[in-house]
Amino acid sequence: MRQPPPEAPSLVEKRDAENILDTYKRTSFHPRAGKGAKLVDADGKVYWDLLAGIAVNALGHRHPRLVKALREESNHLLHVSNLFYHPAQGLLAERLTHLSGMPRVFFCNSGTEAIEAAVKFTRLAAPGRSRMIALEGSFHGRTMGALALTGNEAYRKPFEPLVGETVFLPANDIVALERAVTPDTAGIFLEPILGEGGIVPLTPEYVKVARAAADRVGAALVFDEVQSGLGRTGFLFVFQDLGVQPDLVTLAKPLGGGLPLGAVLVGQRIAPLVKPGHHGTTFGGNPIACRLGLETLSEIVDGGLLETIRETGEWFGNKLRSAKKRSKGAIVDVRGRGLMWGVELDRDAVEVQKALLDKGFVVGTSRTRVLRLLPPYVVPRPALSGFVKALEEILRGAPKEKVP
Ligand SMILES: Cc1ncc(COP(=O)(O)O)c(C=O)c1O
Repeated sequence: MRQPPPEAPSLVEKRDAENILDTYKRTSFHPRAGKGAKLVDADGKVYWDLLAGIAVNALGHRHPRLVKALREESNHLLHVSNLFYHPAQGLLAERLTHLSGMPRVFFCNSGTEAIEAAVKFTRLAAPGRSRMIALEGSFHGRTMGALALTGNEAYRKPFEPLVGETVFLPANDIVALERAVTPDTAGIFLEPILGEGGIVPLTPEYVKVARAAADRVGAALVFDEVQSGLGRTGFLFVFQDLGVQPDLVTLAKPLGGGLPLGAVLVGQRIAPLVKPGHHGTTFGGNPIACRLGLETLSEIVDGGLLETIRETGEWFGNKLRSAKKRSKGAIVDVRGRGLMWGVELDRDAVEVQKALLDKGFVVGTSRTRVLRLLPPYVVPRPALSGFVKALEEILRGAPKEKVP
């Protein structure tokens, strides 16, 4: 079939600016194709993708297994609703319950929706309580409930009053946590590695104290693994690495293999409390997204990717730490695990991000001075060493080089 001619990037930008509500500050970057960890823009320039659509494209672009499953499933049905049965949801749920040890799964479409569902389930488990604990710098989403838990004033302020009362605490401050959890606390919401908050891992001690504090008052411990879960740290679930069993775990991003899919894993205590009518969604658990999710999970777990992520992560962390030592203070800190890294700079991260894009590396930022790296799990080591080299050149103010 003849393809329509590609449109000029300037035309695309103009039409968006004239028609799309102004909620995004987009970068002038026009990816049009991809394969594995590479992206190709509208001019045919090739980039290493170290952001993976903000942690979504875990298997990289156009993974043959996903392309094949998408073709197969789309020959049958695109949507059935949750009024009827389709095997795809149950198969994915069965895999998730076996792998997580959590007995039930609720499917939705996004991370925010998973958080909304978790807030409702938390309330069911602690009737009459609406006080939540969350972390300063956390990000849980943009809807009213998820926003109420998001520790970023700039996002919250224009929309107050929000839902319930949230107490925001500094990450890893055990004393503050123990003091803040009281008998009127319904839930403690933690990102085990704060993503938007600058890639800040919580310590095992901190999450153990959170578990004990939740138990002390009968509150739910909720892990938001939307960004850090499903293999990104080298463990399928971060709670498994930290040695703590949460009551609820929210998932999304890579879950649908690139299609919108979110989930809440629901623990033993809360699962029996959720009854028909308590929650629901038209689109959640779409059969194609679930099938792609199943393929993604199988590839991660059975394809040995977790081990690769752990090994690559350790190697990359050492490379970043060596670069920090050489950087004469330009790299202030390096934090992360597996394939989730933050490089804190002594300057505005957006400018460095743009310079990296010029050199052929797609990266993200979080807070003002942190470069955020969330590459696909299939990223080859030369992409990561190339990134370190390019970053060091930029920080030293070296002239631009050719793209990979
Ligand atoms: C930890 C965390 N929770 C929730 C969300 C919201 O997810 P979504 O954008 O899919 O609604 C995000 C998105 O970045 C996230 O990183």
